[in-house]
Amino acid sequence: MLSCRRLRKTYQTDRGPVDAVRGVDLDVAARHYVAVIGRSGSGKSSLMAMIGGLSQPSAGSILIEGADIWSFNDNAMAQFRNRRIGYIFQFASLLPTLRAIDNVALPALLDRHSGTADTYNRAAQLLTEVGLGSHFDAYPSEMSAGEQRRTVIARALINNPILLLADEPTSDLDVETESEIMALLLNVNHERGTTLILVTHNLALASKAEQVVQIADGAIVP
Ligand SMILES: Nc1ncnc2c1ncn2[C@@H]1O[C@H](COP(=O)(O)OP(=O)(O)O)[C@@H](O)[C@H]1O
Ligand SMILES: [Mg+2]
Repeated sequence: MLSCRRLRKTYQTDRGPVDAVRGVDLDVAARHYVAVIGRSGSGKSSLMAMIGGLSQPSAGSILIEGADIWSFNDNAMAQFRNRRIGYIFQFASLLPTLRAIDNVALPALLDRHSGTADTYNRAAQLLTEVGLGSHFDAYPSEMSAGEQRRTVIARALINNPILLLADEPTSDLDVETESEIMALLLNVNHERGTTLILVTHNLALASKAEQVVQIADGAIVP
């Protein structure tokens, strides 16, 4: 479902160009769980941001379900991101002035492809699925870090994405909360069949993946 070819990312900085991703070829099968591992600074987040349509490749191509995503115009890209990709990043934050259920519903409301009542029903169902059946009306400041992350996961699923991108989603959580959140993500992958690409430092988690991609110095370690 995903195919990256000769993908490169070079940042122009005051100190000169930084080659963060240097020619990555990557194929991911639908429904698979792929773990991405590698040292800090190796280019994992740069790779994820390009796959997620958030950061333009310097060279190379990314096909998702056959579509060359970086050939889309801005509107098509925005719609593609909102409809097809779910993001769970460490700093993927909730809007503080909205209740949990509004935060979860928001990506579907923005897209206007389903009615408000239907969207709120699905948001309630998703919050229940992630274990927050009694927190619909909670504001982010009233939830624990783990509960906030569960809400982010529910929000990522509201538009039924085909691809979930999770970039070190639990690195700021305690060990127990981390394992709860990870179990939830793997469950989403198994039960819904959503393809999952997870950047993690947790080798036990990586060992459960169908495919482990190790990145070093901007390239995949063969
Ligand atoms: N926006 C940016 N501008 C300049 N350099 C960047 C930027 N983002 C990342 N880098 C550099 O690119 C390299 C890879 O970073 P990153 O993709 O964040 O790696 P990782 O996620 O594996 O820690 C690092 O050397 C980092 O300093
Ligand atoms: Mg990173």
